[in-house]
Amino acid sequence: MANYGKPDFWALKSQKEGYPARSVYKLRELNEKFGLLPAGGSCRPSSPFRVLDLGAAPGSWSLYVLRILGDRGFLAAGDISPLSRRYDQGLFDRDNFFFIQGDITSEDTRDALLSRGPYRLLLSDLAPATTGSRQVDTLRSLSLAETALDYAGDALAQGGSMAVKVFQGGDTASLLKRIRELFRTGKSFKPQACRRESFETYYIGLDKK
Ligand SMILES: C[S@@+](CC[C@H](N)C(=O)[O-])C[C@H]1O[C@@H](n2cnc3c(N)ncnc32)[C@H](O)[C@@H]1O
Repeated sequence: MANYGKPDFWALKSQKEGYPARSVYKLRELNEKFGLLPAGGSCRPSSPFRVLDLGAAPGSWSLYVLRILGDRGFLAAGDISPLSRRYDQGLFDRDNFFFIQGDITSEDTRDALLSRGPYRLLLSDLAPATTGSRQVDTLRSLSLAETALDYAGDALAQGGSMAVKVFQGGDTASLLKRIRELFRTGKSFKPQACRRESFETYYIGLDKK
């Protein structure tokens, strides 16, 4: 059985590299594989590359996005839990970052996040608090992924992309069907940085119709 209390190689590496959680390596892999974030360059685009991060706490993905994009980007993030301020070096205080602590299914949170769009990229690492029942956890994860997809429908600009975490085992076929209706490309991908025993995977939507 996995020992989630003990920091493993990836958890220790992330802390050494300035991130509160090992999840940053999953996003790095997703970005390397699918080119989700624009590569760096000396010229700055006229409008910032806007990213929405759902289920952002403790903040590794947000920090990764802010460090890659710098002033070329704007990031809005939401989570029920607060962000960790241990590694952000002031990035969470900058004008190109907005965070709301709230339930992403609530109207207030949704309004606050949608009003800062439209976005070019939606990231969702949302995960339910696990109960020990795989069936319950999978259903809750799928429901969060469906909510993230609702956000994608309303908040992503045409041509935008999305990466959404889902626990395997539920009706992911209908999720993928919905993704393929909304995006020109839809596929699943399991980063190597996921724990071997984890049943999570990511669904990718590229080029919103
Ligand atoms: C795996 S963690 C995200 C880790 C994050 N991507 C990072 O790199 O630091 C999943 C997050 O989903 C959040 N979450 C779960 N259900 C939520 C909901 N209904 N509204 C907002 N956040 C939620 C949890 O609070 C948790 O922080």
